[in-house]
This record gives sequence, C-alpha cells and structure tokens, in this order.
Amino acid sequence: MGRFRRLRKTEAIRNLVRETTLSANDVIQPFFLVEGRKKKETIVSMPGIYRFSLDFLLKEIESYIKLGGQAGLFFGIPHQKDAKGSLAYQDDGFMPRAIRVIKKKFPQFVVITDVCLCGYTDHGHCGVVINHEVENDQTVDLLAKMALAHAQAGADFVAPSDMMDFRVAKIRRELDQHQAEDVGIISYAVKYSSAYYGPFRDAAHSKPKFGNRKTYQMDPANSREAMKEARQDVLEGADMVMVKPALAYLDIVASLRRELTVPIVAYSVSGEYAMMKAAAQKKWINEKDIVLESHLSMKRAGADILITYYAKDILNWIREERR
Ligand code: PBG
Ligand code: ZN
Repeated sequence: MGRFRRLRKTEAIRNLVRETTLSANDVIQPFFLVEGRKKKETIVSMPGIYRFSLDFLLKEIESYIKLGGQAGLFFGIPHQKDAKGSLAYQDDGFMPRAIRVIKKKFPQFVVITDVCLCGYTDHGHCGVVINHEVENDQTVDLLAKMALAHAQAGADFVAPSDMMDFRVAKIRRELDQHQAEDVGIISYAVKYSSAYYGPFRDAAHSKPKFGNRKTYQMDPANSREAMKEARQDVLEGADMVMVKPALAYLDIVASLRRELTVPIVAYSVSGEYAMMKAAAQKKWINEKDIVLESHLSMKRAGADILITYYAKDILNWIREERR
C-alpha cells in the first residue's frame, strides 16, 4: 500500500513530481477588430475584453507581447453585413489590410485568423443561406476565398470555425495553388453547438436572426462523432485540431489526445470567461486561482495549446509567481 502523502510533503517535492504545467508558451489571446479609429468598445457580457480599431489594437498587441504573448486569434467585425458576407473575402478588405499592418509591425507575432462568415452575414449564420438552410459547398468556396485573402496578407494560420464539411481540404488546395503552402490550418474540427458562445455573439454581433446552428455544429450529447470530425480534418490537411468549448468537453480532448498525433488546441470560450469573471466580480471565487486551475486542467486533459480570453491575465500571473 502507498503512503501517497510522501510526495506531497513539501513545496519542492511537489514541484519535482508535478506532471502538468501551464506556461506562457501555451496560450493564445483572441482579439476583436472593428473598423474606424480610436475605438475601444466594451462588451457587456465580457468585462475586460474589448473591440479595438486597428490603431488601438496595435497598442494592445504590443503590451501583450511585452508580457510574453506570442500568438493571437483575430476576429474581424465589419461595419456592414449582407446575405453572402461579401466583406469577408475581399482581398483588400479591412481584415487583410489589418493583418498586413500587424505582421509588418510585429513580424514574429503568430497571427491566426478566424475564418467564418457569421460575423459578416446579415442573417448571422456561418454560410450561404438557401431556403433557410446553410448550403455547404457554396459556403466552402467563399471560406476558401476568405482564407486565401488572410493568407496572402500574411496570416501564419487560418482557423475555419464554420463546421461545413470538406472546408479544410478546399482551403488547403486554395492556399497551395496560390503559393501559400507555408500558411497552416488550425481547424475548429470539434465544435459543439453550445450555449457557451452567447457572450461572443454579443461581441461579434453574430447571433443568428433565425433558427440555430444545430445543422452544422455538433450535438453536445455525442462523443464518437468528435473522433470522426478530427480524423477527417487531419486527412484533409489540418495542421492542428481544436476542441471547443473546453471545460465542459475535456473528455473529448482526452480521447482525441489518445488517438491523434497533431497538436490539440482547446478553446476556452466566451461563456467560460463570462462565468468565471462574473463570479470573481462578486468575490464569490478567487479569480486567479480558479482561472489557473481551470486552464491547467485543460492541459492535463491533453490540450497542447489553449485559446483563452484570460491569456493576458495568465501571462501576468505566471510572471508574478516567478518573482
Ligand atoms: C464563429 C465563431 C464563434 C466562436 C468562434 N468562432 C461563435 C459561433 O459559432 O457562434 C465562439 C467563440 C467564443 O464563444 O468565445 N463561427
Ligand atoms: Zn460562424
């Protein structure tokens, strides 16, 4: 029989036997970009997170990099929306222009762009709507154009978040045919139809005007499907696969980790942030301890990389601990 407490006796021993760590290398901060100048818009359901215009965003990225931040996931929120999300895939659209500026100013910063139409469509769905249904193949064609526009502007990775079938293959082909072989794909391979996205849809003004996303995002009741989605995205050319949301889906992260060799990304989404932030603001929980423990758990489950609205705070906290 074991005396397990031997290995917990002192801080130093606990440090020696610790299996999992959370480091500055593990986190990616999401950023919301709006058109215009001198904008820093608050998001009611996400205190501490803002929609920035490019001028202010550059300052925000700079302070994030100073803390040790190495990568960001960028969402564009356009001033105008239409049925086909036209502003999403213009070569000289506001996102490609912003990506050029960001990469010029911070060449080493890893720029990942979200590729989806829901922020750009007036109906708020992630693709082209025909007879109240999102049409897969037409949507995929537009997503490939959007991904190419981001890639040619200098994005390091594109991250399709739409959940159409075969979009990774189509995007990979489009990039390869236009000398963008070095631009990678982080696929939102396993994305559940989740109530945890609520605050994000406030942030991006992307709430569907009718219906829901259940015909393309996954049913939270299913886990075998996750493996099929992830395996196929790898076969189609995804360099990394993502599971989203994170905390309520760590069983999925763990099962993908056992079967796949690609890096696994867990996205701790807006609702997870909002819940922790709200309880912290009420002083019902210790924010730092809860956030560090939650993110460590995502790593322990098998995630290699965490996309999280708490990335900047985590970098700050990790720094303090080292002092
Ligand atoms: C767009 C997209 C969403 C998120 C990331 N990309 C929202 C959605 O599918 O409605 C969610 C992010 C979050 O909640 O933090 N397809
Ligand atoms: Zn979408």
